[in-house]
Amino acid sequence: LRNRKMSSNHLSHIESMSQAPSGAGKISQLNAVILGESLASEENDLVFPSKEFSAQALVSSPQQYVEMYKRSIDDPAGFWSDIASQFYWNQKWGDQVFSENLDVRKGPIQIEWFKGGITNICYNCLDKNVEAGLGDKTAIYWEGNEPGVGASSTYSELLQQVCQLANYLKDVGVKKGDAVVIYLPMLMELPIAMLACARIGAVHSVVFAGFSADSLAQRIIDCKPKVILTCNAVKRGPKTINLKSIVDAALDLSSKDGVSVGICLTYENASAETRENTKWKNGRDVWWQDVVPKYPTSCEVEWVDAEDPLFLLYTSGSTGKPKGVLHTTGGYMVYTATTFKYAFDYKSTDVYWCTADCGWITGHSYVTYGPMLNGATVVVFEGAPNYPDSGRCWEIVDKYKISIFYTAPTLVRSLMRDDDKYVTRHSRKSLRVLGSVGEPINPSAWRWFFNLVGDSKCPISDTWWQTETGGFMITPLPGAWPQKPGSATFPFFGVQPVIVDEKGNEIEGECSGYLCVKGSWPGAFRTLFGDHERYETTYFKPFEGYYFSGDGCSRDKDGYYWLTGRVDDVINVSGHRIGTAEVESALASHPQCAEAAVVGVEHEVKGQGIYAFVTLVEGVPYSEELRKSLVFMVRNQIGAFAAPDRIHWAPGLPKTRSGKIMRRILRKIASRQLEELGDISTLADPSVVDQLIALADV
Ligand code: WT7
Repeated sequence: LRNRKMSSNHLSHIESMSQAPSGAGKISQLNAVILGESLASEENDLVFPSKEFSAQALVSSPQQYVEMYKRSIDDPAGFWSDIASQFYWNQKWGDQVFSENLDVRKGPIQIEWFKGGITNICYNCLDKNVEAGLGDKTAIYWEGNEPGVGASSTYSELLQQVCQLANYLKDVGVKKGDAVVIYLPMLMELPIAMLACARIGAVHSVVFAGFSADSLAQRIIDCKPKVILTCNAVKRGPKTINLKSIVDAALDLSSKDGVSVGICLTYENASAETRENTKWKNGRDVWWQDVVPKYPTSCEVEWVDAEDPLFLLYTSGSTGKPKGVLHTTGGYMVYTATTFKYAFDYKSTDVYWCTADCGWITGHSYVTYGPMLNGATVVVFEGAPNYPDSGRCWEIVDKYKISIFYTAPTLVRSLMRDDDKYVTRHSRKSLRVLGSVGEPINPSAWRWFFNLVGDSKCPISDTWWQTETGGFMITPLPGAWPQKPGSATFPFFGVQPVIVDEKGNEIEGECSGYLCVKGSWPGAFRTLFGDHERYETTYFKPFEGYYFSGDGCSRDKDGYYWLTGRVDDVINVSGHRIGTAEVESALASHPQCAEAAVVGVEHEVKGQGIYAFVTLVEGVPYSEELRKSLVFMVRNQIGAFAAPDRIHWAPGLPKTRSGKIMRRILRKIASRQLEELGDISTLADPSVVDQLIALADV
């Protein structure tokens, strides 16, 4: 994998270049590009959008971007309220468009946008589009796991389906502010469920259907939903996964903890499993198809305040306990719609496919809300992108004439390993914009994606953002900028990225350091559910006055941003965020494990792989069987996607005299950079290092 090396090469490259003129602010860096001052440099690998593309683009030149960007920074209230006015509000927001305190020294962190404005995001996604004449436009093309299996819904049909479910939820007592957990695969019912909750003001918490029963239970216990929505089973590629039995186990676990969920509404996914083979608990379990279709196809909207919660989404942090990221309604709505429109240069004729699952933030903001707020036609795909073979994505692209294709570098890298013929035997001529998200995209994957998949004519929007940010933060506007493969380019409107040093000092011009954000933006998360203190401590205390992203970043002489990966104890496996502490605690719960330490290592396809050092209980011998049962422990407690790629037996772990594990040394051992171990003299027992090296290949 080249991305990490890429970033360090890049760093040394820009470090060796002459200093940027002093006082070079963001705008003057942008000007440098506009004036073409630095474009001649051979080291600059610039890829320009075609003239035809730029000519039709929403933002067609750097100048136009700079004008809009400047206004968004100088007059955020004016900029965002102009945009917000294009949505439907039952009542306009108060005098203040936004209010914020992002400085812990000045009191509690607080962010509000469009407070007092009364709206509903489901209304804006569906009713508003139907009223605007888009009722017969396809809202969702659903593509099943098996080629040839599919379905679709127009905007009016989708509205009716959403209303029926919303009416059911209301009927069983779900009210504004109540939590609803959704544990569904990529069936059409997943976005339907999200929208139905939003319609009645309920707070959805989608749990990715790859999470284990333990993880699901942990989330249920935290947010105490009245209802859980799931399905009996799903097929992904050749495998059948019995989701209902995972839910059953999770509900058992949570009721032991005093949280009992009254209703488990189960969609019968007949292509994967029959009703007869689905375990059932009468009184609690209800078949979706038995009840929902009986409800009326229209449902009054619950009007909510812009600052009322829309959803909770759990994500990993540097401790074992996942964080419930809370997004509210108004700002999130305005922000996801606007970022979607500009970053993908969205036109009403586009057909859009994002390969992410709605269980992650990408699926919230850019499968469901962002696109539907724009009245877009969205493809929802149930299956695995390499099933039945590596050409499946391009088959789907041709089938639905997809014009915007948004995916993750890990998928690009895995498809890249196969023969190009899987790509070239499909026409792909409908494509016009490509997108990437989840981790830095290494230049070689960028090029393959650009040259082969996009036939060298589709700009790539490499979008940097996070669960917490709600929407894109640093992203190309495809018609405006020449791109640099591997760089997420420039900030979106209203976003002020800053790079700070260890001490929290803002560094100007060409530099590298910690990526923070100054000021708020409408899509920002407002708190961590039930733990505002952790919200402040994690994000606003490390560098006072700023939001801290947890990412490292550099800015080159042209002002382009290059993300370099997490700087905390979070690893990024195939674009999925996993806390090392979560994996460690799963391993440590194995009766024969005394201690575990987990680090990320470069992985050719996944970006990072999970590498675990495990110390066994005294007297227990290493064995292949034990290795398997340790991995099984993690699959069971978190999910298959968090299974360690490697278990390294460790007679001891490198610790300081005060008992702190020195992960820096473990990372070097894991990546076999044994000459770069650095100073090990501060270890309580330096001989541990040799013992670990000796066991590297056992
Ligand atoms: C972390 C956020 C929101 C997208 C899905 C993941 C990494 C995300 C990029 C990108 C470099 C990226 C960061 C970030 N990341 N996109 N385009 N370039 N890094 O959301 O699970 O909240 O993870 O993903 O490290 O902090 P998430």
